[in-house]
Amino acid sequence: MIKGDELYQLYVSREARGTGVAAALLDDGEARIAASGVSCAWLACAIGNDRAARFYEKRGWRRAGIVTNELETPDGPFHLDIWRYEKPLRAAAIR
Ligand SMILES: CC(C)(COP(=O)(O)OP(=O)(O)OC[C@H]1O[C@@H](n2cnc3c(N)ncnc32)[C@H](O)[C@@H]1OP(=O)(O)O)[C@@H](O)C(=O)NCCC(=O)NCCS
Repeated sequence: MIKGDELYQLYVSREARGTGVAAALLDDGEARIAASGVSCAWLACAIGNDRAARFYEKRGWRRAGIVTNELETPDGPFHLDIWRYEKPLRAAAIR
């Protein structure tokens, strides 16, 4: 879930949505990124993924804008516009 300063590909199964599991995973991911010394984390969210957007925003992430992300595929790089979200982090130890 962590790639440097990026929170990467957070997903929970359909049955687990709305249970708090995703929030626990997000908290853990943020703590791990903060513990690595990063002061501002980011993530890519598909444009129009309103559930995910609501989830991130209620947990303190803010939408920085639309940016083009370069994805790796077996056929080479694929460029995709995404919503970029960012969150400033305070240095913290992993519990
Ligand atoms: C994104 C994800 C991790 C969030 O976890 P979750 O357990 O579903 O999140 P929550 O239920 O705590 O929060 C979702 C919020 O969106 C709201 N919501 C649900 N459907 C919505 C919709 N269609 N449009 C807008 N908001 C919506 C919920 O009501 C809730 O807000 P509330 O707490 O104010 O009521 C999870 O939905 C998921 O794994 N989705 C599929 C993969 C994915 O899209 N990952 C994100 C990649 S960037």
